[in-house]
Order: sequence, then C-alpha cells, then structure tokens
Amino acid sequence: MCGIFAYTGKKESLPILLDGLTSLEYRGYDSAGIYMAETGSVKSVGAVENLKLKIKGDEKGKSGIAHLRWATHGEPTEINAHPHHDAKEHIWVVHNGIIENFKELKEFLTKRGRVFLSSTDTEVLAHLISYYLDEKKNFEQAVIAALNDVKGTYGIAVSYKNEPEKIIAARQGAPVVVGIGDGENFIASDPSPILRYTKDVIFLQDGEVIVITPSSHLIYKLDSSQIKRDKETIEWEVEQARKSGYEHFMLKEIMEGPEVIENTIRGRLIVEEGLAKLGGLEMVAEKLRSMKRIIIVGCGTAYYAGLVGEYMIEEYAGIPVEVEVGSEFRYRKPLIDEHTILLAVSQSGETADTLEAIREAKRKGVLTLGIVNTVGSTIARETDAGIYNHAGPEMGVASTKAFVSQLAALSLLTLFLGRQRQMSLSTGKRIAEEIKLLPEKIKQITDKKEEIQKVAQKYSEARDFLYIGRKYNFPIAYEGALKLKEVSYIHAEGYGAGEMKHGPLAMIDEHFPTLAIVPSDSVYEKNVSNIQEIKARKGKVVSVVTEGNKELDDLSDDTIKIPKTLEMLSPILTIVPLQLFAYYFATTKGLNVDRPRNLAKSVTVE
Ligand code: F6R
Repeated sequence: MCGIFAYTGKKESLPILLDGLTSLEYRGYDSAGIYMAETGSVKSVGAVENLKLKIKGDEKGKSGIAHLRWATHGEPTEINAHPHHDAKEHIWVVHNGIIENFKELKEFLTKRGRVFLSSTDTEVLAHLISYYLDEKKNFEQAVIAALNDVKGTYGIAVSYKNEPEKIIAARQGAPVVVGIGDGENFIASDPSPILRYTKDVIFLQDGEVIVITPSSHLIYKLDSSQIKRDKETIEWEVEQARKSGYEHFMLKEIMEGPEVIENTIRGRLIVEEGLAKLGGLEMVAEKLRSMKRIIIVGCGTAYYAGLVGEYMIEEYAGIPVEVEVGSEFRYRKPLIDEHTILLAVSQSGETADTLEAIREAKRKGVLTLGIVNTVGSTIARETDAGIYNHAGPEMGVASTKAFVSQLAALSLLTLFLGRQRQMSLSTGKRIAEEIKLLPEKIKQITDKKEEIQKVAQKYSEARDFLYIGRKYNFPIAYEGALKLKEVSYIHAEGYGAGEMKHGPLAMIDEHFPTLAIVPSDSVYEKNVSNIQEIKARKGKVVSVVTEGNKELDDLSDDTIKIPKTLEMLSPILTIVPLQLFAYYFATTKGLNVDRPRNLAKSVTVE
C-alpha cells in the first residue's frame, strides 16, 4: 500500500524527506509528494526521481510530511497525489488506507462550502480537520474529532501551517511507526526509513494518535485520554524492516492473508441482507442482471483463480462460465453474443495476454469487467467496470496474497450475481457470514507455519510432486503445483484427483509424493479412494484436511489441518498451506523465492 513519512527536528527536512521516500519505494507506488510548512508542496507522478526533478532548491523547513501513493480511489495523477490540503492550505495530510465513508463526509463538507480538488478519499480528512479548527478546536482536538467521524483504515501524518514543528499521526488498521531521535522525531509506515537515524521506536496501536515535536511525543486515544508507552529498540537491518522482519516478501505476503481479505471485503458485505455491495459494478448492474454467460480470462495464478470462480458462479449464481487463458482467447473464434460478458482477472493489470483478450472482446462489442489489484493499470482503465482487490502491492514474484484476494473478490461477485437472480436471502446470508470469518480462519493456518515448515523440510529432496484435488479444489491443485514449480524449480503437476487412474498413477512410486487437497466436502469420499490408490502403489501422501478429520491421519504420511468453511470458500483456506509449503520447500534448498530465475513480476509481452 501507500507509504507515509514525516520528520520534525533541527535539520533541514528536504533531504530527509526525500531519503525517507526512497527507502519506502520498495513498497510499490505510482506517485509521490512532500509538504514543508515554510515552502509548500511538491508532487509528481511516477518515480521519486521525478519528484526530485521538480524540486527547485529553495524548499526549506525543519519539518515536513511525505508520501508515496499506491492508488486506491482515483487515478494515479498529480492532483490525486498526496499530501492533500484544505481550502486555506493550512492543513496537509498524507494517508495510507481507505476512508470508507468518504462519500458521506464529502457531502457533509460540500454542503458547508468546501471545494474538493481530487478524486481521493484522503482529501476529506484535510477538509474535516480544517472544519473542526474553524469550530474553535485546537490542532490536536481537531484531528481527534475528525478521526472520530471516519470509518475505514488509516495511517496518517498531518501538518498544520501555523504549528510547523508539530506533526500529528494516527493509526487504524494501517501501520504507523514513530522514530524517537535526539532532538528529532519521525513517523513512517514501517521502520525502514527511520533506522538510519534511530533504532528507538514506538509502534502505534489501532485507535491511537501521536503528537510529535522535535523534543516530545504524546500519545492519545480517540476519546482524547492520554496514554504512556515505552519506546522499544529494534535491531533489524533496513532490508529486514522492509519485510516486517520476515526473511522474504513471499512469506510476508502469505502472512498478510488475513489483512488482505479484510481489505478486499471491507465495506462490501451487508451480512444481514446477504448482499455484496460492489461500487465498481453499480453502473453496469442492470446489464449484469440480464447477462447469460461469462468468459473469465487470466494468466497463470489469475487463470486458476478464474477456474475457482467458474465453480462458484455456476453453482450459486446459475450463470454458465468458461475460463480461458489470455494467450489462447484471441487466437480462437470465441462464440460471443450480446448476453456474454468477459471478466479479466489480473494482479498487475498489465499482463499483455489478458489485455489483448480484453481488446479482442471489446472489438466484438462485449461488456468487459476486471478484478484487478493495481488501480489505474491498463486493464483497470480499459475494462468497462470492475472490482479492485485492495490487496496492496505484491513484491514477491510468486503471486500469493493477490490470489487469495482474487478468490475473495470472486466470492463477492458470486454473491452479487446470485442475489440478482435466484439465490435466497438465507443462502446469501450464510455465504456473507462465512466470508466475514475468513480472515480469522486464515490466521489459524498461518499461526501453524512452523508445522508446515517441518513437513516441507521432510520432502525437500523430492524431485517431483503431484497435487490432486476435486471440484472447488481442482484449480487449487494447479495453483499449489505452480507455486512449487516457480520457487523450487522442481517438477510439480496439478491434476484432478479423478484423473489419476487415467494416466498419472503410472508415475507413482515411493519417490514420487502427492499433495492431496481433501477438505471435508461433497467430494471427500471420492478423494479418499484416490489417496488409497496412491498408497497402494507406495506413494507418499501429504493431505490438507479439515480439522477434526482422523481418517486421513492414518491413511496419509502427513496431514495439515485447516478450519472448516463453506465448500465454495474452501480454496481460500486450502491454498494457504500450499503457499507455505512451497515457500519452505524452496527456502530449505536455499533458493531466492522472491526472485525466481527466468520469471518477471509483470509480463507485458505476449
Ligand atoms: C504466478 C504468477 C503468474 C501471474 C501471471 C498473471 O505466481 O504470479 O502466473 O499470476 O503472470 O499476472 P497478473 O495477475 O499480473 O495478470
């Protein structure tokens, strides 16, 4: 997601702010900006280098705030880049997160004469704080009052032209670290830009506000009560800090699963009505009601997400779905009519094969939708409507957190389309309730990562691995195998469990292990039979099973347990141990999982 940084102290702040932004660049971003109370703001689209080119050299000040933006609301343009300000240009805000009720707040403020310049959710914060200043509150009181009106997530830093030494920061669901220096203090989204100045930090907790000056820091709660918190000393190196202390981005991103699902579903579920509220589809909702067929396109991991979507949408919305890899779609003659829509799934939003499939569909007059993680990306711009994942930038080349968020987005879409059709209120409610529980259930799996590590280490000498699953978990067999292939370079194959006896069973012997995805679902018994066939040929089996399952403890060589959920949502849980398995398998071999050989994060060539 976005990165925030702020400084107040004795030194000239400009080089410190620019250095801070450079340290945060690894998080991924599309625009940058700084504000210093004495000389104002500078913003640019693209790299921090572009921002530096716009610096005239006369920017001065002993404090300032800075931001790298990864667009969530509004395109990546200079006007949408942070910091954002109020009408008088007194209050300046940098923000990481999403203000869910920004439309209501904007309406409230617009009625009171405030004029908005950008299409961001963040700008409301600047105007709201300024509104409370006009109501005769002081700077601290105005920030706290504004935050009490806000729903959503934020890590913010606020500067006030009339009190330039003071920076106020706050946290709700987005990280804020405070660096405590000698006559200087810092705010940042993670410790990496702070560590070169001080190792003493305070990690702000949700619902806390901190007021820093060069020589003080005071922490408040949102009810304005003051609290005390000791600073802690961190010994991380900068590289470690970027990965939140994890050894690799891949592990960090798998561990982010719960937060990623929270972000994908935030504000989009009305549980009591069994509905999904998808703002990005509002303008095409009527067309979707009469739509009779969906073609999903994607590549690699995104394609496998599409395959899970096929099972979800067909079963619960009753709409026929076909899934196609982007690179094939345009080379055959797709049979399309006015009731067909094309849904593209893409993390980067830049994958050439997927993009060309969209363009081909548009040439044929088809309505195109996107499930895209990168706001403002080409696919996001070229599709007619869509759903953003809000998973944050994915740094590891192997897609992990984007996949779980794609599945969560597809489950929301299924609910949306299903409730437009025959799906009952009670089914809708059950799905919505279970979606809400997913973050906690993923956490129960990631909490057991050491257990999964031991299993992966046990098999790390294997040269081949078979992955099997059925129905909703058939695509998960493909995706699990893809993860192992790309980070460990060994041969791994995904197969439908029922297909084993039509060929692959011939490969099985004591040196060819199988990873079986066998949650307690409607195809459980069939999967157990397939495992028995493998065991009869001396094949080793690692099974991913639902908690409470004893049968497979006996039948398998190793089992990994996951919590129970609805069958349609089970892939969102079963994939997590497979991601961890691939991660530990490859790291046991000493491989660079974040940068696998021969692969690029974004494939912009056909
Ligand atoms: C695998 C992986 C790739 C991508 C594929 C599509 O871990 O990352 O298979 O899923 O290249 O990329 P996006 O989703 O950016 O279109």
